[in-house]
Amino acid sequence: MSLAPQNERSNQDRQAWIDDELSARKQAGLLRTQRVRSLQSQAKTIELNGQLLIDFSSNDYLGLAGELSKELHQDPIWNTNWGSGASPLITGRTEAHQELEQELSCFKHAEAALAFSTGYAANVGAITALTGAGDVIFSDAKNHASIIDGCRLSKANVVIYRHNDIDHLSELLAGVTDVRRRLIVTDTLFSMDGDFAKLPQLAELAETHNAMLMVDEAHATGVFGENGRGLAEHFGCEAAIDVSVGTLSKALGSIGGFITGSRLLIDLLVNKARPYIYSTAMPAVCARAGVLALKRVAAEPQRRELLLSNVGHLVSALREAGLISNGDAGAEDGNSQIIPIMLGHPEKALQLSLSLREAGMNVPAIRPPTVPQQESLLRISLSSQHTSTQLDRLVAGLV
Ligand SMILES: Cc1ncc(COP(=O)(O)O)c(C=O)c1O
Repeated sequence: MSLAPQNERSNQDRQAWIDDELSARKQAGLLRTQRVRSLQSQAKTIELNGQLLIDFSSNDYLGLAGELSKELHQDPIWNTNWGSGASPLITGRTEAHQELEQELSCFKHAEAALAFSTGYAANVGAITALTGAGDVIFSDAKNHASIIDGCRLSKANVVIYRHNDIDHLSELLAGVTDVRRRLIVTDTLFSMDGDFAKLPQLAELAETHNAMLMVDEAHATGVFGENGRGLAEHFGCEAAIDVSVGTLSKALGSIGGFITGSRLLIDLLVNKARPYIYSTAMPAVCARAGVLALKRVAAEPQRRELLLSNVGHLVSALREAGLISNGDAGAEDGNSQIIPIMLGHPEKALQLSLSLREAGMNVPAIRPPTVPQQESLLRISLSSQHTSTQLDRLVAGLV
């Protein structure tokens, strides 16, 4: 049914501000537009808007997304209901979800686990369940948007500490007395800069100030630690973590978020985490995909070894070419599969991304509001599946 011309006009009038806002974004080099990736895209060569490109943008760090779809086709779960039809506490939580939660708690050596439909929902759900008015959250300045949004929704007082600045956090913690609860929250592997949180020092501060410690291992799960449990395993400080968040959507090649911790914590989340309670459970097939991915992480450590050897190869080539300095990529004690090329102005990042696309490579430009105006960058995401020829081609495209 088409609208009467009069209604159309008043809609246009009411929405004129949207046009103004989008135009302003375009002028500032900040407009985001949708693209379409062909379903036929292969491992690290994708077809984007009809153009074949080597892909350096995906979080499928271990190449599991393709493997899982082959495995799931052979799995009896493939022939069960696709949608789960209800939120987990109504009837949406199936045996597959239960098995996923059991496998996740074994994998993370935790008492219990809870599966959410996304990692975003897991962060928002945990922070809003754990804190409220009268509490204080200490949040790293470079935490992921889902942590920021959880903080905003929580009604707690949010104190931002300078990125990875332990002295600053220590001062802020000491300055806050007489509160109900304190929560320190951090990404473990920062999603834009690719550097590591200083987990051992954070654990110490949490202990000293009687604060809960929540870590988001979204990008570290499956990649770091001897068993792929993440950076808390890598740093040997898992016991100090109260709330560990992860996602199946990155190295685990699927979709869905999760939280692991004590039985008490998980019981609280079941009762209070609104994105868990008021949103449909992920399809059972996705929960099964999570279980299969965890088995792969345990059985195929060579995937993370290959990934980290690709990281070593690219980082030294970029250093040799003068494209990154020591402080740029990763942390003092190691590099990660997320490698930023710092460019400053958003337009500069956009131009370099476009010229790489012309040269057959997809490397996204990261601009405000994801990062501050003068911290725009190209974000290279590596996979175990990249070949050294592809990495060398990227370096050649950047010089
Ligand atoms: C650090 C971090 N946490 C959480 C998320 C959200 O995870 P998901 O994509 O599963 O919602 C992301 C994804 O971009 C992330 O980078």
